[in-house]
Amino acid sequence: MSKQRVSRRQFLNYTLTGVGGFMAAGMLMPMVRFAVDPVLKAEASGDFKATKQKVSELSNEPVRVDFSYEQKDAWYTSDVTQTAWVYKNKEGKIIALSPICKHLGCTVNWNASEDHKEMFYCPCHGGLYHKNGENVPGTPPTAPLDSYPTKEKDGILYLGQPEPNKFVKK
Ligand code: FES
Repeated sequence: MSKQRVSRRQFLNYTLTGVGGFMAAGMLMPMVRFAVDPVLKAEASGDFKATKQKVSELSNEPVRVDFSYEQKDAWYTSDVTQTAWVYKNKEGKIIALSPICKHLGCTVNWNASEDHKEMFYCPCHGGLYHKNGENVPGTPPTAPLDSYPTKEKDGILYLGQPEPNKFVKK
């Protein structure tokens, strides 16, 4: 067995290379993370969140579905609660509408006005929407209620993020 001696010069070379590499990795990691972050965010935005609503219990009468989840924004984590009005249309398709009024952002309710049955009603300024979320002309809102993408998994309703209403024909 031969014993090789490491010269002082070699020892310094190895040590400096190791320390330099470690420091370079420490500087490069945040840059790589910064570059890749938008890709990761885009994937997360397509996420569906689980509700507690069983799909089999949905009927053609809109029900209010509240759902909560944990949201991570960089290193800050918060609990988010969202609401949807959900029902099945004549074809059995699940319709999930955002309750946020398109006038000034109040919360709309189903069948909440004696004078306007079977409609979504906004109590703030009398905004009205049809069952599919279409705004009634002549009332303050100028756009339909947003809709949620929906998904069923193990009999449970999952909802994505609200988007422009796809059920209102223009
Ligand atoms: S906020 Fe809904 S009608 Fe004004």
